[in-house]
Amino acid sequence: MRGRRATRAFRPDPVPEDVLRAVFSLAGTAPSNSNAQPWRVEVVGGARRDRLADALRAAHTERRVTPDYPYSEDMYAPVHQERRAAFGAGLYGALGIGPDDHPARAAYNAESMGFYGAPHAAFLFVAGDGGPRLAADVGAYLQTLLLAMTAYGVASCPQGLLSFYADTVRDELHVNEGKLLVGVSFGYADETAPVNRLATDRAALEATTTFHS
Ligand SMILES: Cc1cc2nc3c(=O)[nH]c(=O)nc-3n(C[C@H](O)[C@H](O)[C@H](O)COP(=O)(O)O)c2cc1C
Repeated sequence: MRGRRATRAFRPDPVPEDVLRAVFSLAGTAPSNSNAQPWRVEVVGGARRDRLADALRAAHTERRVTPDYPYSEDMYAPVHQERRAAFGAGLYGALGIGPDDHPARAAYNAESMGFYGAPHAAFLFVAGDGGPRLAADVGAYLQTLLLAMTAYGVASCPQGLLSFYADTVRDELHVNEGKLLVGVSFGYADETAPVNRLATDRAALEATTTFHS
């Protein structure tokens, strides 16, 4: 768990087929309510990955935003906004982008549509009615997937931004079931990239957890 971190620069080398099958099999061991396993997972690599990245870049540029799950800054409490701001300062600091350099930040977001250079991406759809209880199960799948990848030396970045273009993903991959929760870019980390040295901290245990007795 401590070895996993979000990676934002990758080498182009693909992940071997047997490793792909191993990590996605392990991800499927995630718990879910009544063991319903309400996830649908689409994994891309090769030419399909390149075509999808082009389509996502175009959708982002043309602002064809079609999220299945509504997004609003208002969903965060002030304490969460503070943590987000601290994270943003760390990320853009590591990239050498100044706090008020909005064009450079926007350009970096646009670039992230290319999966940060990762040779693969996985798209996690919530099947059934896609409601919040089922989405929670897919959240458990997400973390299990990320830890399985870590165990196999595969680096990853969950990207909520990719889910803003759900119709584009659906069209390109011919998916007609479920709601898109998140995309995950993955591959082998470019260890020389300064952005990959970004370390995030966490709130103190007492700030999030109460032990009742
Ligand atoms: C649901 C979800 C969505 C995320 N979306 C993005 C994203 O769109 N772009 C990005 O660069 N990182 C994204 N992240 C990565 C977070 O920024 C990262 O997990 C967090 O800052 C903690 O850092 P760590 O993963 O290195 O521990 C996302 C993470 C999660 C779990």
